[in-house]
Amino acid sequence: MKTEKIYLELTKTQKEFIDATADEVLFGGAAGGGKSYGQLVDALLYALKYPESRQLILRKTYPELEHSLILVSLKFYPKSICKYSSTSRKWHFINGSVIEFGYCAARTDVIRYQGAEYDVVRFDELTHFSEEQYTYLISRVRGVNPYPKMVKSSTNPGGIGHNWVKQRFIDGYEPNKIHTDSQSGAKRLFIPSFVQDNVFLMNADADYINRLMQLPENERKALLYGEWDIFDGQVFTEWKNSSLGSRTRQWSHVIEPFDIPKEWRRYRTFDFGYSKPFAVSWYAVDHDGRAYNYRELYGCTGTPDVGVKWTAQKIADEIRSIEENEISNQPIIGIADPAIWNSTGSVDGSIADMMEKRGVYFEKGNHDRLAGKMQVHYRLAFDDDGLPMIYFFNTCKNMIRTLPQLRYDPVRPEDVDTGQEDHLYDALKYFLMSNPIAVRENKTEKPKEFNPLSTDKIAAYPRFIV
Ligand SMILES: Nc1ncnc2c1ncn2[C@@H]1O[C@H](COP(=O)(O)OP(=O)(O)O)[C@@H](O)[C@H]1O
Ligand SMILES: [Mg+2]
Repeated sequence: MKTEKIYLELTKTQKEFIDATADEVLFGGAAGGGKSYGQLVDALLYALKYPESRQLILRKTYPELEHSLILVSLKFYPKSICKYSSTSRKWHFINGSVIEFGYCAARTDVIRYQGAEYDVVRFDELTHFSEEQYTYLISRVRGVNPYPKMVKSSTNPGGIGHNWVKQRFIDGYEPNKIHTDSQSGAKRLFIPSFVQDNVFLMNADADYINRLMQLPENERKALLYGEWDIFDGQVFTEWKNSSLGSRTRQWSHVIEPFDIPKEWRRYRTFDFGYSKPFAVSWYAVDHDGRAYNYRELYGCTGTPDVGVKWTAQKIADEIRSIEENEISNQPIIGIADPAIWNSTGSVDGSIADMMEKRGVYFEKGNHDRLAGKMQVHYRLAFDDDGLPMIYFFNTCKNMIRTLPQLRYDPVRPEDVDTGQEDHLYDALKYFLMSNPIAVRENKTEKPKEFNPLSTDKIAAYPRFIV
């Protein structure tokens, strides 16, 4: 057989996607980052590496498939080693491998894949699929050959499946790091994708970013910045979690933990719950008055908004044992929901009394709901340099999960809907109302300048020999 070289260049994140070894991989983020192209290259390399392998590439509808993936694959798949059949929508390789294109427009379309077996199933625009379609189709990944069995997906944020995709791959997990699902044991990985990663597009269409800038706020956040915390009715639209991929403290509320200096003021704020979660958050305040949520103790079973049913005494004991290890020369000032001073009808007195007997003390927080909400807005607001007045350590996973998720109350549209998982938010307000700040207006980030001379986002791997 004659040897032929194909030269392909990849972006750094495409290479990471191709090299990923988890059972389920998600390549997700901004539009134009090179995700779909990455899928096609990955499929091609897999087909060549593993003779007689079978792969399925899915898109929600047939026209989408035809206009994007099929069209692009026809442009660069080398015709000397594979042939495309438009009737069966399959690429047949001379080593016996097959890449099949499929779609799943209706809920029941998955039935078409009943009885089929694949080594790899790939979803493009995963958020267009329902979770049932996904779990059904990934059950088709099986076979007796020793080839790696994987499900690899690519997507922009924002489709009908936005929430389940976010929960499965993103919420509470570190990007670029494999996590193991406790129920199924499946290893999952999320690789964020940014439009600036794609040097090919940046070179070919310098105006692309400017066009994305013109989009309305939610679409802009999803398509330009690849942000996942987006939906209508969101209260804290200023929220930004750019810790994904970036290590700077600009334009992000979520940051890597650091050792809090001993002389910074410290606070503990508390919202009691029993069948709903209780919430304890610790905040430190630096010399500029900027707050850092450095720890949380959240009484949740793991099912959102279901409480662990701890008594006030047990919560107090846990708080004490955590704080005993704290290295600080400042006392921790406790602030709590004023309702914990209400009588419980028990001889032990109020929740506050019970906790005081265990050596955990609180001051009464101010529970003015709207003033508290405005304080959260002023704190989250970014200045021109992208600095907010509050940060959250990325270890405060429940705060990071629940704060951006809060929606407006449909009846009192100026306030947060109290039927939601708002316990850490409530505790945050008690803390902020004890340290109120003046009005701050939120500034938005200008897109990063693309620098064609910079090499830090791009690496070329042009050495695939067939
Ligand atoms: N490694 C690459 N080499 C050449 N062109 C690329 C490469 N990666 C992406 N592109 C091109 O950049 C554009 C955007 O890529 P695409 O994969 O469609 O992005 P996404 O799926 O993330 O929206 C497309 O025109 C695609 O063909
Ligand atoms: Mg795409």
